[in-house]
Amino acid sequence: MKPTVLLVDDEPSVLFGYRKFLEKAGYGTSEAATLKEARALFEAERFDAILLDKNLPDGNGLDFVPEVRAEYPDIAIVVITGAGDVPEAVDALKKGADNFLTKPVDMGELDVFLRKSIEVGGLRRVDMTRKRLEKKSSMHFGESPAAKETMEYAQLAAENDSTVLLQGETGVGKGVLAHWIHERSARASESFVEVNCSSLRGDLLASELFGHAKGAFTSAVCDREGLVEVADRGTLLLDEIGDMDISVQAQFLKVIEEKSYRRVGEVKVRHSDFRLICATNRDLQREVGEGRFRNDLFFRINVLPMTIVPLNRRNSDIPGYVRHFLANMGHEGMEIDPAVMGALVAYRWPGNIRELKNVLERAVLLARGKPISLEHMPGVSGAPAAAARPDTGGTMSLQEVEEEHIASIVDQCGGDVQKASELLGISRATLYRKIKDRKGD
Ligand SMILES: Nc1ncnc2c1ncn2[C@@H]1O[C@H](COP(=O)(O)OP(=O)(O)OP(=O)(O)O)[C@@H](O)[C@H]1O
Ligand SMILES: [Mg+2]
Repeated sequence: MKPTVLLVDDEPSVLFGYRKFLEKAGYGTSEAATLKEARALFEAERFDAILLDKNLPDGNGLDFVPEVRAEYPDIAIVVITGAGDVPEAVDALKKGADNFLTKPVDMGELDVFLRKSIEVGGLRRVDMTRKRLEKKSSMHFGESPAAKETMEYAQLAAENDSTVLLQGETGVGKGVLAHWIHERSARASESFVEVNCSSLRGDLLASELFGHAKGAFTSAVCDREGLVEVADRGTLLLDEIGDMDISVQAQFLKVIEEKSYRRVGEVKVRHSDFRLICATNRDLQREVGEGRFRNDLFFRINVLPMTIVPLNRRNSDIPGYVRHFLANMGHEGMEIDPAVMGALVAYRWPGNIRELKNVLERAVLLARGKPISLEHMPGVSGAPAAAARPDTGGTMSLQEVEEEHIASIVDQCGGDVQKASELLGISRATLYRKIKDRKGD
């Protein structure tokens, strides 16, 4: 049976291009121009994959990712983002997408990504690797000087009760490190409470943090305790604190200074003794400079600051992480081809450790017990090639872009088709076919 793909994009010409290419490549397709249409189609039919554009007339395509993922853990989700939109792409991965491609979309790459992601989806159904990985996931620090420093600081943080400020790019492990510190602290037997400050705005965040009295606002139908209260004697992680509303910042400053707070709509003063850990992927000092973060709050939380260095600035740690994750997946001591390890070390890892973990999980599934090869890591093995792609100015057709990309890679490899196919993440046969098609034009 043909694999089916739901194409979501508001540009008719883009949809047409995808459909033509994918149907020729052996996929069945359905099309949606809005999120609303996508939701309706998704309800009515079962798809193997979704190709999702970020910018849609009725909302952000990325919002659809967690909805789909929640219902279907095995569906392949490939997100298309604008060129240079690395943060968006990384966000897509965070929300559960399998892969991302940047515009202009390279159709050869799209075919490879879809095929691999669909294959992974199928394997995921029968293999519980993902679950095992989640359960067994433990913290690994690394051997680089930066990693060792992080570990020393983390140990120090676990031994005392001061406020910790964790900074670093998305996916570097701020969340897992906060847990690690809590679990090794004197408060380990009490609760670890996590609040994401970016998902709740103003009053909602205040009520989530401090609780509310019945009738404080329309939807407050009963008294409710806040998370600050739940964290009493335990640890409170304020995640994405850089996104905290400025009005809530003022209230929270008071909580830190006085260790006391009031539920929304209540006069009674309550007390809570929690250990505070804050995390953010923003540069808080800059946020302060630009007036988006209160200087006095920054001063209060910047007691034990730690910055986790991104993976691409400590490449020497990558082999260690690879072994760590493979061992967690039940592949302790698995031999890794030096070319594969080389590609993993050379890749930029915009999604940091989260992305590395995802890539390895997929590679293990695709390799089905055989040694992992570059073919099992689309995106990673093609990375140096993508970087070398000339700026097309957005005026080329998808096919032209693919042709140019292939030609430049084959050139780069001095005509060595084997090597070029590895870099492109496609089989030699596919590459030969593509070259032949082009010559036949
Ligand atoms: N040092 C590590 N050891 C093992 N796994 C890690 C490590 N760092 C991150 N991970 C894994 O990577 C994923 C992302 O980690 P985490 O959520 O802690 O990142 P983060 O820095 O909080 O990212 P964000 O800013 O996007 O919230 C998790 O699945 C986690 O298991
Ligand atoms: Mg986090």
